[in-house]
Amino acid sequence: LRPTHRLLSCPGPVAADLKREEQSSRNVETGSEDKIPKKKFSEVQKERREQAQRTVLIHCPSKISEKKFLKYLSQHGPISNHFFYESFGLYAVVEFCQKESITSLQNVTRTPSMDTEAAIPFKSRFFNVKMKNPSNQTSEQPCIRCSNHTPPSSKKLSELLCYAESIDDQLNTLLKEFQLTEEDIKLRYLTCSLIEDLAAAYFQDCTVRPFGSSVNSFGKLGCDLDMFLDLGEIGKFNTNKTSGNFLMEFQVKNVSSERIATQKILSVIGECLDHFGPGCVGVQKILNARCPLVRFSHQASGFQCDLTTNNGIALKSSELLYIYGALDSRVRALVFCIRCWARAHSLTSSIPGSWITNFSLTMMVIFFLQRRSPPILPTLDYLKTLAGAEDKCIIEGHNCTFVSDLNRIKPSGNTETLESLLKEFFEYFGNFAFNKNSINIRQGREQNKPESSPLHIQNPFETSLNISKNVNQSQLQKFVDLARESAWILSQEDKDRPSPSSNRPWGLATLLLPSVVNSVSLAKKKRKKPASERIKNLLESIKSSSPENDTNTNGK
Ligand code: CTP
Ligand code: MG
Repeated sequence: LRPTHRLLSCPGPVAADLKREEQSSRNVETGSEDKIPKKKFSEVQKERREQAQRTVLIHCPSKISEKKFLKYLSQHGPISNHFFYESFGLYAVVEFCQKESITSLQNVTRTPSMDTEAAIPFKSRFFNVKMKNPSNQTSEQPCIRCSNHTPPSSKKLSELLCYAESIDDQLNTLLKEFQLTEEDIKLRYLTCSLIEDLAAAYFQDCTVRPFGSSVNSFGKLGCDLDMFLDLGEIGKFNTNKTSGNFLMEFQVKNVSSERIATQKILSVIGECLDHFGPGCVGVQKILNARCPLVRFSHQASGFQCDLTTNNGIALKSSELLYIYGALDSRVRALVFCIRCWARAHSLTSSIPGSWITNFSLTMMVIFFLQRRSPPILPTLDYLKTLAGAEDKCIIEGHNCTFVSDLNRIKPSGNTETLESLLKEFFEYFGNFAFNKNSINIRQGREQNKPESSPLHIQNPFETSLNISKNVNQSQLQKFVDLARESAWILSQEDKDRPSPSSNRPWGLATLLLPSVVNSVSLAKKKRKKPASERIKNLLESIKSSSPENDTNTNGK
């Protein structure tokens, strides 16, 4: 069970600074269209990583005095930022100005002594704080204010959507409510940094980086935390660093393949997390997967973590998606909307299976936006032509080169509204020839399918791979049916929009409530004649969409 996060904000001047900083970094990381130059992905990662290395995680008693607590910690050095959250108890994330403060704090920290159990002494940056005289402090009211850190309940969401002024406004509301908060992002980087400390005990100078939706700007509150154990620096030999006539190499053990090396490394790290990792529970080693991984829960942060290694291409995919998300404010709004829509109709699931994944849906939205006229997003091949010498990147023989400087990419001249894009998205994929075509964001156009999987989305870097190979025909059919249904509902909207006071779901709210979609649309189908040829055709297509008589989605 995922705990609910409740963030406790900190008042006073520190909070004001934090707010300002949040504002600016939120603009940068979410790519909202303001005049601030957008940071490169690598710059954001570097900054956040460095911040996380100066940060500690502290489990606190619930009745703690914030002021005294901060004063106590400041003995070790000035604090630049802090926040509290609740997740099976109260936790504080405290960022010092200097890394040395952490060593100082660790020097006065003891390993707890237990009566019936034995502690494994492990000195991490995850602490427990106890009060020496609890009775002295309880009389004091904690001046800690709570702010929520979970996505809105469906009731709250439905209210927010009802009161929105337009469908565009509804999409932007959805984005605002579901996107990762500044604190959530900080906690994700901190969690990686804590795991890095553990892995570094074996692999000196390794790095553990977040990737996937935690960093690609498409993460919804509560999404998993994908981690990449990067041993790159260890294996790399840099001739520039040496002079003279000798080559120095480490003595190492050899195994018969990269895959076996990956499995061995992850196996040991998995054991380590299981036996010594503070707060790491439910460790599962899934080493026979195409991409071997260790899955575990980081209890204190509440994140479900997937740790992989030798997976540099996935980090590059995250950077590419970050760039696409930052280029135009409509991209993230549309992706969040499609992700929420898919979740609401059980097209996606947190359990792996033959369903569409969020990653595939994001690719579909990007592809659709590349197909608009004029295009809203450039193709990957075009981003490659803009790359500078410093952007050159080959991973495992795959060319992963594309421009990293966002400011070199011209904004699109397309002015379509989110409402029309949403409608067109559903129509586009409701009628896509999945049976013969593959989705390809590198070239931004359909390609003949190289194999017979029902849904084929080419991996943009490992072009022989299909990122949606897992999707079966019936799940694809479900997606197509719902897309057609949703296109039809949206095309009815103009006439049916209720007055704001009626409190009746409309627009996006209708699309996101599965029961409503079915009942409203069925009721409409019964009582209304299609107004235009287009709607008639849509209805026809819904009727004929059973797998036997449908040609569009038949994979064979
Ligand atoms: N990935 C990939 N090929 C796949 C699946 C995943 O390259 N077939 C990479 C992508 O870079 C993806 C990352 O692995 O972003 C993490 O995968 P996953 O957690 O499934 O997707 P997220 O994008 O993180 O989305 P979610 O919010 O559902 O976790
Ligand atoms: Mg993920």
